[in-house]
Amino acid sequence: MSAEILDTTAQPASNLDMTRPSGPLLSIKNLHVWFELRRFGFGHAGYVRAVDGVTFDLDYGEAIAIVGESGCGKSTLMKTILGLYPPTDGTVVFEDEDLSDFNPRKLQWYRSQLGYVQQDPYGALPPFMNVEHILSEPMIINGIKDKAERRERIEKVMTEVKMTPISDFVNKFPHMLSGGQQQRIVIARAMILEPKMIVADEPVSMLDASVRVEILKLLRGLQESHNLAVIYITHDLSTVRYFSERIFVMYAGNLVEKASVMQLLDNPSHPYTQALLTGTSDPDYNNALTYKEVPPGEPPSLINPPPGCRFHPRCAQAIEGLCEVKDPPDFDLEPGHQSACWLHE
Ligand SMILES: Nc1ncnc2c1ncn2[C@@H]1O[C@H](COP(=O)(O)OP(=O)(O)OP(=O)(O)O)[C@@H](O)[C@H]1O
Ligand code: SF4
Ligand SMILES: [Mg+2]
Repeated sequence: MSAEILDTTAQPASNLDMTRPSGPLLSIKNLHVWFELRRFGFGHAGYVRAVDGVTFDLDYGEAIAIVGESGCGKSTLMKTILGLYPPTDGTVVFEDEDLSDFNPRKLQWYRSQLGYVQQDPYGALPPFMNVEHILSEPMIINGIKDKAERRERIEKVMTEVKMTPISDFVNKFPHMLSGGQQQRIVIARAMILEPKMIVADEPVSMLDASVRVEILKLLRGLQESHNLAVIYITHDLSTVRYFSERIFVMYAGNLVEKASVMQLLDNPSHPYTQALLTGTSDPDYNNALTYKEVPPGEPPSLINPPPGCRFHPRCAQAIEGLCEVKDPPDFDLEPGHQSACWLHE
């Protein structure tokens, strides 16, 4: 990762726009997404509690980041927000409308309001379609019949993702593009219907370090110029500081700390967040704030999560008789900063 992204003097993003509509764009309340486990010959064998009680609001034009170890439920949360998984319990509300009330037509409209940028751009692009076809498809599905309008939108979005001259790329197939160019096309496809929100799930983790910087800058630029809300999922705390306004730390299906970037980096309060940040204290400047090491111990099974606080088997500060028994609620530390830990009672 380049020093440019890791510049510790960089100011956290602030994209507060006074012209935004009031109220949140997206409101997630007590969301649970469980997958049923079935064993051949035995039937029901329990549930994977991938998302287990997540609550947050996302404002218009706001960028948030969700950080957590592999398997903690980040992608499941995103796919549920995208309407790909139904909630087991709880609600996903978009512009005051509950997703679970959407009929197929409304769901199609909803998906046109969201752009999705995946981790693996090559896997995300259909191999037998050229760039023009890839970018045209969502417009055709969403009823943009006028060919000239489609062409105009393709030219606009390709200019925005810096794939110019356009004639060099429109006829190319995904395998003819570099990883960075493929991700630009994924972003162009996510933007082509002019969405209100982008969900970017580890959008740069499979790209070269030099390309990562460019892609993150591109996403940030699009967020600002289009007043886009962005949910950015990552393992990489350095890019979080650069990219988002708030950070949510996820552990074993729950958000354990929610804070502004400044609050979280100046005063990390949940022991899991502290452990993540300790893991980042690499003396090599180029690796600073990038956690390559994770807190000692293994994340728990999401089939049989530990009782009480799910972090207690790994927590050096666990309070005996309490933490392994009672699930901590969110405690308010200051406005905008919450931590789900009994130490803050
Ligand atoms: N369709 C599914 N059916 C059953 N279990 C699933 C399904 N999708 C995810 N899981 C399980 O849910 C848990 C959370 O997975 P998820 O992919 O959401 O984690 P993640 O935080 O995105 O991980 P990573 O950082 O590795 O991408 C994991 O235990 C995973 O095995
Ligand atoms: S609630 Fe207890 S076990 Fe959980 S993080 Fe806080 S101190 Fe550690
Ligand atoms: Mg994932």
